[in-house]
Order: sequence, then C-alpha cells, then structure tokens
Amino acid sequence: TKTIKDVNLSGKRVFVRCDFNVPLKDGVINDDSRIVAALPTIQLLIAQGAKIILASHLGRPKGEKNAKFTLAPVAEELAKQLGQPVTFVEDCIGEEVEAEVAKMGDGDVLLLENVRFYAGEEKNDPEFAAALAKLADAFVNDAFGTAHRAHASTAGVAAHLSPCVCGLLIEKELAYLGDKTANPERPLTVILGGAKVSDKIKVIDALLEKADTIIIGGAMAYTFALAEGRQVGESLSEPDYIETAKSALAKAKEKGVKFLLPVDNLGVKDLDFGAGTIGESKFFEGNIEDGWEGVDIGPKSIELFSNEVKNAKTVLWNGPMGIFEIDACNKGTFAVAKTIAESDACSIIGGGDSVKAIKMAGYGDQVTFMSTGGGASLEFLEGKELPGVTALDQA
Ligand code: 3PG
Repeated sequence: TKTIKDVNLSGKRVFVRCDFNVPLKDGVINDDSRIVAALPTIQLLIAQGAKIILASHLGRPKGEKNAKFTLAPVAEELAKQLGQPVTFVEDCIGEEVEAEVAKMGDGDVLLLENVRFYAGEEKNDPEFAAALAKLADAFVNDAFGTAHRAHASTAGVAAHLSPCVCGLLIEKELAYLGDKTANPERPLTVILGGAKVSDKIKVIDALLEKADTIIIGGAMAYTFALAEGRQVGESLSEPDYIETAKSALAKAKEKGVKFLLPVDNLGVKDLDFGAGTIGESKFFEGNIEDGWEGVDIGPKSIELFSNEVKNAKTVLWNGPMGIFEIDACNKGTFAVAKTIAESDACSIIGGGDSVKAIKMAGYGDQVTFMSTGGGASLEFLEGKELPGVTALDQA
C-alpha cells in the first residue's frame, strides 16, 4: 500500500477520509484520541501545500440529516489543535460545497458534514461516490477505524481519484497490528478478553499461528472453563461454543502455544449493571458455585498473567478481563493494564474496550501503541482484508 510519503500532493485538492467518529455528549467531545491521531497526516498535507478536504462519518444517522450527528464540534476542536482555521461546510456534496472548495488556497483545511447523512455512503453508491470525488483530485484514506467498511467515502471514491494513498495513521496501525505481531520480537504474549468466544474465535485462530502465549480472560473464559469440564455457576457463557473452545485448546497444544485460562475468579450475586452495583461477592478457585456469577479474574490469575507479561518482548492486548465498567469488578482489567504499562515489551492495545480500560486505569500514555479501531482492529487481527486499504491498492 502506497502512503502519503510516496507522493507529493502540493497544490492538489485532496479528499482525506478520517475517522472522526468520536464519543460526543451534548455536543462536547469526550475523547479526542481519534482527532489527535489524525493530526500528523493533516499537518503533513498542510506543509506540502495541499488543499485538504476532510470527510468522516459520526455515529449511525441511517442516511438522513440529523443535527445530533453533526461534525461541527469536530471542526472546532480540529481548528484548536491545528492552530489554524478549519472551514466547516454543512453538506458533503453539491454546488455550495464545490463553491467553498473552489475558494480554498494551498494549505487550507475544510471539513465536510457527516457523509452518513446520505444513504449512498453506506451502500457505496457509485453516484454518491462520484459526487464526493468531484470535490478533489487525490485520495488519502486515513480512517483506520472505518477501514473495514466498503463505503463510498472509504472505498468508492478511489475509482475516481489519483493518486490514492493511505495516511500516516493507517500506515502506523498496519505496522503495529500487522508486522509487529506477524514478525514480533519474541516471546509474543497475547491477552484476549471480552464477553464472547463467538466474537473472538477468528482472532484466537489467527493468533494461534503467531503467538507464543495466549491468555484468555473476560466472560469468554467461562466458555473455555466449560470446555475443560469446570463449572461456571451463573456466569455468562456460550454453551454452543464449547466445541469451538475445545478445538482452540487442542490447536494450542498441537502448535506448542502456551494457553492460559484464569485459575480464580471473582463471583458476585445481584449485579446491577445500570446502577453499577453488586451484592455479595467472593473468590472461587476452579469451579464457580451455582448462584454466583463470575465477573472478574481473581488475584492468583492476576499474578499468573502478570508473570507472563513480564517475560514477554511483545504484548498484544484486546478485551477486558471482567466487567471493568463497575468499580467492584475492575481489579483484574486494571491490574493487567498496569503490568502492560510497566513492562519493557512493545505493547500494542487492540482498540475498543481495552483502550478505554487502559485510559480509565490511567496508563494511556505508557503503552507503545493504542489502536484507534474497534471493529477494524479485530477484523485486521483476524487476517481479513480491509476494504478501505484494498481500494487504495486496486486504484
Ligand atoms: C467505529 O467506531 O468502530 C468506526 O467509526 C466504525 O463505525 P461503524 O461501526 O458505525 O461503521
């Protein structure tokens, strides 16, 4: 995949797809990581003297204009962080937008309104893609978080623009989630968590080919516990996936991959997720008794997992160890975050909940790389092609 460093876009109108799908509450941006992550590409284009036309989606407005999903707050934040004006236009296609683009000088930055206000975006409608592409000469895709979607602004526009290259963020994401886990400094220890085996089984399968050690936590581990013939009480599990879990365990053995499951768990009664409270709680080693729900890993598992992390040269983490959103159930997840932050290993956090957890634990600035992709990072770790990258290669 060609990157922005391979071309000179000076004086050109460049359509830059970013992922500015940031968490907003009452028009206030809660987490600006995706904006910060987009800056290097925008700054490089400013330095080159390109005319920078930024596009993104925000939320899921389902093909209709909806003030709740406007990108206006992002334009304001971007202007602050870039230290230069960012023109915001209240549409993403059409004559008025074209007139604004025509006024741009070299190094100017303009942000289009949410591309998902048009149904053609998610359908990758050729007409909509052509209308977007009409605004520009060249295409830079830097929206890693949306690269698993074959939409008009992530893939369709590539057919009309030249050159088509990826930005610095996509380049970095591919390097860390790709090369550094495919050809890692060893040992490579992978920590996977989250609720469901069904969500992560393809990732487990792919990583069984690369990792030296795989550690499983989160509710997913209860399905593995069932596969090992243990009892899990009222814990979340997927009985339909017990056989799948058994095959993964067998594959690990065959490949000589060390496969670690929690040896103890925090069990609770009367968990109320909405209120963030639990009733009685106690630790279980091995089996969890009937009437108790496993919600976190216990102290022995924390020690076991931490020792693995300490010996690793590369650590990849995706998915929490328990229900970290509830204070009483966050110890395991936060302890793993701390060990990863304190290790000398190259530490790669695979996006979504684990990034949220490592920031909540206060270690966001102590890891080597945090992905900006949720679904995209999972699909890429599974070994799937990302349409937003493939489109660049095919253009
Ligand atoms: C994300 O937040 O994962 C991306 O921005 C993609 O959003 P989507 O799941 O609505 O396509």
